[in-house]
Amino acid sequence: FSAFLTDSFGRRHNYLRMSLTEKCNLRCQYCMPEEGVKLTPRAQLLTTSEILTLARLFIQEGVDKIRLTGGEPLIRPDVVDIIAELRKLEGLKTIAITTNGMSLAKLLPKLKDAGLDLINISLDSLVPAKFEFIVRRKGFHKVMEGIDKAIEMGYNPVKVNCVVMRGLNEDELLDFVALTEKKPLEVRFIEYMPFDGNKWNFKKMVSYQEMLDCIRQQWPNLELLQSGHTDTAKIYKVQGFKGQLGFITSMSDHFCGSCNRLRITADGNLKVCLFGNSEVSLRDVLRSGASEEELLQIIGAAVRRKKKQHAGMFSISQMKNRPMILIGGSFWNT
Ligand code: GTP
Ligand code: 5AD
Ligand code: SF4
Repeated sequence: FSAFLTDSFGRRHNYLRMSLTEKCNLRCQYCMPEEGVKLTPRAQLLTTSEILTLARLFIQEGVDKIRLTGGEPLIRPDVVDIIAELRKLEGLKTIAITTNGMSLAKLLPKLKDAGLDLINISLDSLVPAKFEFIVRRKGFHKVMEGIDKAIEMGYNPVKVNCVVMRGLNEDELLDFVALTEKKPLEVRFIEYMPFDGNKWNFKKMVSYQEMLDCIRQQWPNLELLQSGHTDTAKIYKVQGFKGQLGFITSMSDHFCGSCNRLRITADGNLKVCLFGNSEVSLRDVLRSGASEEELLQIIGAAVRRKKKQHAGMFSISQMKNRPMILIGGSFWNT
């Protein structure tokens, strides 16, 4: 495995998350402030050719899974072409996307033809009015349609991301569990994480343990399944149900030790940790006409600076970082 993508703790980074855009057609409360965020001028965003150049380089060094994120990645007009181009790259095993699902039903046939392997969809409430309160826009039925269509088209498991927030949707845990009875979904309950502008506070976070206790009251025979070494989620199943449950415990039980992820923001910064504020602009290096070797040296140096683990939830909540929308519409840690 490439020395450039191996950090000083021996973690190998074979999973790259690339943000295709900072824009989004929703305004989720946990992701960005109501007024939205100041967008980077277009000229400073990665072009499609720069995205593909970077993807090629990371794959050459050992990346075998790329997840496209945003903002909302399906908003990028050439998202289907990007997937088709990625699909041609030898060495890339998995192309995944994390989407809010709003335009999924419409785009799915093209996405599938282009070679998309895996789909994760955000859905934080099963009550339309509450969904709209959380995302500050309409669209519940479109998202549900996207989820059903993804299942219909054979994606399995379709992962559903639910950020659990006290006083907002914590009362819906069991309804989300019920969704997995008949559908081959993996519903993932995510501990609410602090990012710039999302008004996180400790009291709004519902911990893994608390969620588990609540679900076990109704389903005492909840079974813990084996998950992959680098998975973000701890996986459970209610016996007899088609789908399964995941818990993403970034706050109460971080999984930094097995982190295999790097990310590139839409404006071309390499971020070696979701909760880290040190970034390096690969865009500037690319545009300076640097050689591949120089680029790799810069990437390698950034990867070696990656910390052993994130600073803990209270430090993170005080830290200067980007809002989630400008990181990659979702997370990762260390
Ligand atoms: P898989 O590839 O299916 O494992 O997806 P994922 O969980 O990596 O990606 P997704 O975009 O669906 O993100 C779902 C949630 O996982 C996000 O809300 C984040 O909370 C969390 N997540 C993803 N990657 C990381 C990570 O590296 N660190 C931490 N702490 N959380 C992460
Ligand atoms: N805390 C936890 N999860 C978050 N996401 C976005 N912001 C937060 C946050 N503050 C999740 C969403 C989306 C994924 C990309 O990231 O659920 O599915
Ligand atoms: Fe958009 Fe995703 Fe952020 Fe919601 S979490 S506002 S869907 S980028």
